[in-house]
Amino acid sequence: MTDAREARFVLRNARALAADYIARAVRPGDTVVDATMGNGKDTQFLCELAGESGRVYAFDVQAEAVTRTRERLAQAGLIERATLLLAGHETMALHVPSGVQAVMFNLGWLPGAAHAVTTRTDTTLAAVDAAVALLAPGGIVTVCIYPGHEEGTRELHALTDYAAGLSVQRYNVLHHRFLNAGEQTPQLILIQRNK
Ligand SMILES: C[S@@+](CC[C@H](N)C(=O)[O-])C[C@H]1O[C@@H](n2cnc3c(N)ncnc32)[C@H](O)[C@@H]1O
Repeated sequence: MTDAREARFVLRNARALAADYIARAVRPGDTVVDATMGNGKDTQFLCELAGESGRVYAFDVQAEAVTRTRERLAQAGLIERATLLLAGHETMALHVPSGVQAVMFNLGWLPGAAHAVTTRTDTTLAAVDAAVALLAPGGIVTVCIYPGHEEGTRELHALTDYAAGLSVQRYNVLHHRFLNAGEQTPQLILIQRNK
């Protein structure tokens, strides 16, 4: 007899919360986007959820990120499911068809690389706005924000203002923040298109 219950809930961090929401929203055959490819961990996670019949579009502005992600997906036998783009996520509308089930943003810089190439407020805002416009009904956007550095704090303020201004008739918007941790602790914004 199999146990249908999921593992007991553990509250960990913004990134794990984003992954939990994504896993509950995405089904095989869906079109999904990794807006910040980095080392490809999230791209791999999305490829696994989207299945053989799904499609994953992934963006990064660093060739190193695309290379690392391509290698990771090839090793996992998942490369056929992904379209890896060496392009800014702010160009998302040019590359991705509408009707997307999930878009994942993990802001900041590439782990293990120069901190100089971090996501930036103006392009992040343009990209999140493009992602919201591409969503299918029920589709979600997750944005992990790192206010531990100056540009991350700017992104946090700009994104909370932007998300708070979205139509409540069309979108449900949630902001997760760990109240008893320092102000530099990563935060999560979740946006769902409800119709
Ligand atoms: C925190 S890392 C992402 C980690 C990644 N999701 C993973 O699983 O390893 C953020 C990434 O965003 C990328 N980035 C910065 N500006 C960008 C832009 N305009 N469009 C797309 N990616 C960008 C950086 O190059 C960096 O690789």
